[in-house]
Amino acid sequence: MKKMKKVIIAPSILSANFAALKYDVKMIEEAGVEWVHIDVMDGHFVPNITVGPVVVKSLRKETKLFFDVHLMIANPEKYWREFKEAGADLITFHNEVSVEKNKLVEDIKSSGIKAGISIKPETSVSEIETLLPYLDLVLVMTVEPGFGGQSFMENMIPKIKSLRKIIDENNYDCLIEVDGGIDSRVASICVDAGADALVSGSYIFAAKNPTEAVKSLFV
Ligand code: DX5
Ligand code: ZN
Repeated sequence: MKKMKKVIIAPSILSANFAALKYDVKMIEEAGVEWVHIDVMDGHFVPNITVGPVVVKSLRKETKLFFDVHLMIANPEKYWREFKEAGADLITFHNEVSVEKNKLVEDIKSSGIKAGISIKPETSVSEIETLLPYLDLVLVMTVEPGFGGQSFMENMIPKIKSLRKIIDENNYDCLIEVDGGIDSRVASICVDAGADALVSGSYIFAAKNPTEAVKSLFV
């Protein structure tokens, strides 16, 4: 049966103009999105540094969009609360960090927001299977985390499909979000494989017409 649910589009501000963030956020809002994806990098877990809670806090005053915060940091247990207090609605941390995952998921959820776990391309679904009943979202990376503008790894499609199967068979209340190298062609492949939410950065913000680029992702 064909799914009738509308895909969630979460533009990544990593490729936006940081000197004019509120205008870029207004643009995506007017183009019809409900989420914005905020990539947080610490220069340890990934070889790049981006934004911290102060940026999230400033942006929170400018928009009602759902803040999807992707923590690519080595110590999420130390910093997640600051992002929550700054206005995050969902906090996703990486399965590859050494932290007590069950406890962190529980702590985030009991603070009143949603919790997700992200898996890098080399991490298999079996590594997070026991956590699925407790997660609000799984973020499947389709590039190596660290930078925008990379090419989508087509060989991640079976991973999306197998997650879809496990989640559906067990009736888990967990969304599948896909992140990295998504354009309008890749968007429909991901949705067909079972994605509920799509992150897209450079395809939107490097486009001649960013509004049209956002709209083209609603497949
Ligand atoms: C990569 C980030 C992604 C990235 C997506 O580490 O997690 O969210 O910004 O950007 P594009 O769509 O350009 O691959
Ligand atoms: Zn991301």
